[in-house]
Amino acid sequence: MILNYKGDFSLSNEKSVSINEEKIANYIKKLGVEGAKNINVDEIKKELKTKYIGHDIYAFEKVDSTNAIAKFLAGTEVEEGTIVIARSQFKGKGRMGKKWESPSGGIWLSIIIYPEIDPQKASLITLCGGVAVSKAIRRLGVDARIKWPNDILINHKKIAGILTEANSNFHTLDYVVVGIGIDSNLDAGSVSKKVEDVSTTLKDELKKEVDETRLILSLLEEFEKVYEDLKNEKFNEILYNWRNLSQTIGSNVLIEQQFGKTLKGYVVGINNQGALILELNNGKLKKVISGESHMKEIEK
Ligand code: BTN
Repeated sequence: MILNYKGDFSLSNEKSVSINEEKIANYIKKLGVEGAKNINVDEIKKELKTKYIGHDIYAFEKVDSTNAIAKFLAGTEVEEGTIVIARSQFKGKGRMGKKWESPSGGIWLSIIIYPEIDPQKASLITLCGGVAVSKAIRRLGVDARIKWPNDILINHKKIAGILTEANSNFHTLDYVVVGIGIDSNLDAGSVSKKVEDVSTTLKDELKKEVDETRLILSLLEEFEKVYEDLKNEKFNEILYNWRNLSQTIGSNVLIEQQFGKTLKGYVVGINNQGALILELNNGKLKKVISGESHMKEIEK
């Protein structure tokens, strides 16, 4: 199913809607979206070479957060691989409760999956996102690298971020939403100075606008490949790819954690659950499960 919302809500050409679709329709109506004029859903569908990722697309001009909509949809049990994409977000969510600035000119999308894995392995899904996004961007000929846990950088500046949100109980994951934001063709001045100082855009790096349809297609293909590795328990393959693309391993870092806690150390690697292995100043090794890493300047 393709839902390309253009003001008046419609579900393709279908006249009647099922209970789930009606629930979705009502929710989506409340969002006050304006119509996805600029997302070429038909072209994406035509060119898509995946088995299931991106087969169902919900496209919007403007939403609060594609992750919020994707979580709602996941609760109504839409197909695995369904994506939600928007031209802009007015309440884009970043990691660690931060706001994600998402004006038009970027790629803001969320992928819904139902991985049948132990919730303890959930952090591997985050690694999958990092591998897929950096590989898709690298297809454009730029050296995209991953900063733990999941920032994608070009020349040490952030080009993309990933927010993975899961609904789980003790033994299983009900669903996972992998939210991806890529600063593709953002115009100068369209995000705050604070964000601009630490980030870059593909348009700036390549000195020309990128074909976003192509990039979305690459992203969906790369995501399916790495997600298939996860499903087939090829965890080493995911870790091998992540380590190869990592900017963090072998660096001195400062880790910012919640409640203002920080840690400093040298990154020895990541373990098979995606945790960072940090060598502290006293030589002890510490496993770090969450936080935000900052590469430390060498102290003189
Ligand atoms: C980060 O802090 O680096 C993660 C940013 C994730 C942003 C994306 S944009 C699409 C999806 N919807 C959201 O509200 N957030 C994610």
